[in-house]
Amino acid sequence: MTQLTIQIRKTEQPEKQKTGVLVVPLFSAQRLPKHIKDIDQAHADVIGKTIKLGDFDGNLNTLAWLPGNQTNQRLLLVGCGARAEFGPASGYRLACSLATALTAGKASDALLVLDDLPLSDADATTFLEQLATELTTTRYQYRQTLTKSLAEPALRKVAIKPLATVSLAQQKKAIATGQHIGSGVNLTRELVNLPGNICTPTYLSQQARKLGRQHSKLKVSVLGEAKMRELGMGSLLSVGQGSDQPSQLIVMEYRGGPAKAQPYALVGKGITFDTGGISLKPGAKMDEMKFDMGGAGSVFGTLSAIAEMDLPINVVGVVAAAENMPSGRATKPGDVVTSLSGKTIEILNTDAEGRLVLCDALTYVARFKPVEVVDIATLTGAIIVSLGNVATGIFANDDSLAQALSDAGEQSKDRGWRLPLWDDYQKQLDSKFADIANIGTGGAGSITAACFLARFAEQYKWAHLDVAGTAFQGAPKGATGRPVPMLVQYLRSRAKGQ
Ligand code: BES
Ligand code: MN
Ligand code: ZN
Repeated sequence: MTQLTIQIRKTEQPEKQKTGVLVVPLFSAQRLPKHIKDIDQAHADVIGKTIKLGDFDGNLNTLAWLPGNQTNQRLLLVGCGARAEFGPASGYRLACSLATALTAGKASDALLVLDDLPLSDADATTFLEQLATELTTTRYQYRQTLTKSLAEPALRKVAIKPLATVSLAQQKKAIATGQHIGSGVNLTRELVNLPGNICTPTYLSQQARKLGRQHSKLKVSVLGEAKMRELGMGSLLSVGQGSDQPSQLIVMEYRGGPAKAQPYALVGKGITFDTGGISLKPGAKMDEMKFDMGGAGSVFGTLSAIAEMDLPINVVGVVAAAENMPSGRATKPGDVVTSLSGKTIEILNTDAEGRLVLCDALTYVARFKPVEVVDIATLTGAIIVSLGNVATGIFANDDSLAQALSDAGEQSKDRGWRLPLWDDYQKQLDSKFADIANIGTGGAGSITAACFLARFAEQYKWAHLDVAGTAFQGAPKGATGRPVPMLVQYLRSRAKGQ
């Protein structure tokens, strides 16, 4: 896909700049300010006439494409609502509708006249960041396994006449940051969209190595099955044992912070295809289980974004990658395995495999002495019953970490909602034949799954994000890149606070 160039460019008279589309934000019930009057005059009063005809009222989320002149081929009027009510929330909606319209439009370059937007300081930079992220993510198209060529968006270049309220340097930084987050989201979507026959555990390890070559501060290592067996990762290995694809434990260490600073850890569920194993899933929509490495995908996208941003923090990303298949060698219901922690697990349902790979990765990550650990997993269908496709489920053994993730979700418009992790639920996991069973006895399936993980995360501050409802969507089918925006925002807030 071709790159979009976004630049902040001081522009004295936009109406005199040659451009495919001149984008003019307008408030409702507003007398045209001087700089817009100049534009209007250069266009034979088409803006004034359009407003007078009632064809454009400036309400939020309204748009009007108008034919332009020799210099500005088109005009795009974008409604911003009442000026007095304009704030960060309207800014976000404006960023989204602008990005959608420009990406779908025919103009190859756009000039945005934003100097009049009543946003200052953090709100202004947030708006620019959101705009750059949206412009980057709306361009994404999956094409890796198509032979037909998809039409590219015409848009190649966006120039922004800067807001009057913040320094140019800050605005440039905001655009770059927004683009890095958008690229991270797109990388995640691409990996998660790839079919299971291409995106295998081995493929993920190759992609990790590739990411490591792209960033000097990112060191990548991979543990194969032999090494994992030697360490005692009997739980993780039990998931891939029915598959011809070898399981992989991928470790990506980003060192952007002080050498001695402890890292933050991200642990991703990387089931590259989940048939359910011997506890086979029903056939309908089973193809969607290629998305079962959504958590792992978000670890890649987040690391890529923070490396591009050069975020001053140390982060270790661990991906537990395996394929869950039935076969003569596959784990059977009732089998008991020994995890890296030493705890034995009775596998009552081989379709509850995410927790089995994650528990060993959670034990393993303790060796990095992490400040906090966040795991990300398409863990339970039950979270879709609770929260639908809107919010990611947040579970944590630490209130301040849960709050930090909720706040990061609000700020990045990639929201999560906390659910309880009370001891009352733990007894559902009691087993007669092992230290713990891998499924609960009934009810609250997302919570009992999180309770299982909590038993392997007692040594540190830990949170679990259940993204089964948010990492991908069913119609149109595809990966969303969530929760990369939330995770990047969380790490930025931690980088600031350390
Ligand atoms: N990968 C699934 C969870 C899932 C379901 C993700 C729907 C995305 C959409 C997970 O491995 C699974 O199968 N979970 C079971 C757990 C059950 C056996 C306790 C589930 O949710 O049914
Ligand atoms: Mn499963
Ligand atoms: Zn799964």
